[in-house]
Amino acid sequence: MASEVTYAEVKFKNASPAAVVEVPPETKKHKQRRQKYPLWLPWLISLLLLLLCIALVTVFFVAPFSRRGDEPTALQQKFMKWQCVSAVPQGKGWMCCPDGSKHFQKSCYYVSSDRMSWVESQQNCTGMGSHLVVINSREEQDFLSKDLQQLRGENYYIGLRAQNVGEWQWVDRTPFNMTAAFWREYEPSNMVDQKCVVIHRPSGLHDNWNDVKCERHFRICEATIVTV
Ligand SMILES: *[C@@H]1O[C@H](CO)[C@@H](O)[C@H](O)[C@H]1NC(C)=O
Ligand SMILES: *[C@@H]1O[C@H](CO)[C@@H](O)[C@H](O)[C@H]1NC(C)=O
Repeated sequence: MASEVTYAEVKFKNASPAAVVEVPPETKKHKQRRQKYPLWLPWLISLLLLLLCIALVTVFFVAPFSRRGDEPTALQQKFMKWQCVSAVPQGKGWMCCPDGSKHFQKSCYYVSSDRMSWVESQQNCTGMGSHLVVINSREEQDFLSKDLQQLRGENYYIGLRAQNVGEWQWVDRTPFNMTAAFWREYEPSNMVDQKCVVIHRPSGLHDNWNDVKCERHFRICEATIVTV
């Protein structure tokens, strides 16, 4: 009985170093098993990447062009011939204006060669998918003034009018901003019978607005540029 106990002790002493030695391979095995991923995992990752690629292609290439299939805007419906410029810096394909109109920033401008009252002028612009021009900045004012210098007309309607004397209103309801108004010297005269506003071309390149009677004058229509 006593010898049996001794034997057991010896075996235990011998075994424990062996167990210590055996520990590293066991942990190694364990590590190896953890690194081993399921066989389907690469497939799943590939599938997700593929779906991501399809999504990106759709967003960046297909979606912008599929807008062609949308309802054309009023402007698009009215004109057959267009002039387009590449819009690469803006990240879109082409920016287009109806043939015969000028392009500046995000608008197309049409300057008439016939004269109408202010109301008829606005109706004519609306009928072409645009409106009488709304001037929002010094840059826009300068572009238009410069462009008009090639022409011979005197007065060109813009989309500004007073319902009551001195209460200036833009056709698109943009709030009238005194500091972005470009009245010619001594204007507006604010007469009861002068409630429509023109660019007076002979006044030159900068401050050339004048309030006039709403009689027959030339007109400038503005429409948002069409991007495709
Ligand atoms: C606008 O005026 C132009 C030039 O007179 C004319 O050709 C066109 O038919 C008019 N459009 C509308 C909708 O009144
Ligand atoms: C009015 O116009 C000026 C000059 O363009 C601009 O700095 C200012 O922000 C405008 N104010 C409003 C209320 O739009």
